[in-house]
Amino acid sequence: MSKFTADQIQQLNENLKTPQEVLKWSLDNLHPRIALASSFGAEDVVVIDMMMKINPKSRIFTLDTGRLNQETYDVMDEIRKKYDINIEVMFPDQNEVEQMVRVNGLNLFYNSPGNRKLCCGIRKVHPLNRMLSTLDGWITGLRADQTEVRLKANKIEIDEQHNGIIKINPIIEWTWEQTWDYIKKNNIPYNKLHDNGFPSIGCEPCTRAIKPGEPLRAGRWWWESDSQKECGLHADHGK
Ligand code: ADX
Ligand code: SF4
Repeated sequence: MSKFTADQIQQLNENLKTPQEVLKWSLDNLHPRIALASSFGAEDVVVIDMMMKINPKSRIFTLDTGRLNQETYDVMDEIRKKYDINIEVMFPDQNEVEQMVRVNGLNLFYNSPGNRKLCCGIRKVHPLNRMLSTLDGWITGLRADQTEVRLKANKIEIDEQHNGIIKINPIIEWTWEQTWDYIKKNNIPYNKLHDNGFPSIGCEPCTRAIKPGEPLRAGRWWWESDSQKECGLHADHGK
């Protein structure tokens, strides 16, 4: 349960303007029971740099699905070294994965949306829930223009989907261009797949490069037709 009322959250959204102001308030009030969920995409490395400049002891966790790209592990290690931090790596439950692939095969996600959601559930959502059950708040690198659902998200929210803890989206109002300006100006390590046509990076078998003119998330679960593709980490925005 959040210790803040909906009115207080609304006030904070009005008063805290920049990502750094939002992060400072969050870390001052909730550290160490708040952590960034990072997939080490462009948005997340920006938030990491900002957090480290505000509080070098800030916590960062990642959901290692077991199916990530080598380039993602490379940037994780670069970030770990640059900021001299531990990254809290969350793995899926061994029994759940073994049971799932025994029954459905290793590449089950291509067979049906149901199978894809089963895999995202076991490899991402369950480990996320395990981490969030120990926190009072979490931070994300969401941006509003990524999906229609995310357009409704605020900088600071009460996350009803996760037991009413606080959800912080410091760069929700930023554009893709602002994100890259910050990366270049601050010389932050980034996932090299971004240089090869991958604006949005998930798991290796479920992400492809996009062609010029395609939407930024077109390469995620590209074989599915639903335009609002989400994996269940951020289903209920805009409450
Ligand atoms: S997803 O829901 O479609 O997979 P997306 O890749 O856009 O999410 O990332 C949005 C935000 O979700 C990231 O900025 C990050 O906060 C969180 N996130 C996504 N994937 C992971 C992951 N593997 N580990 C930790 N956080 C993640
Ligand atoms: Fe499984 Fe693909 Fe979801 Fe990764 S993105 S958890 S491999 S379905």
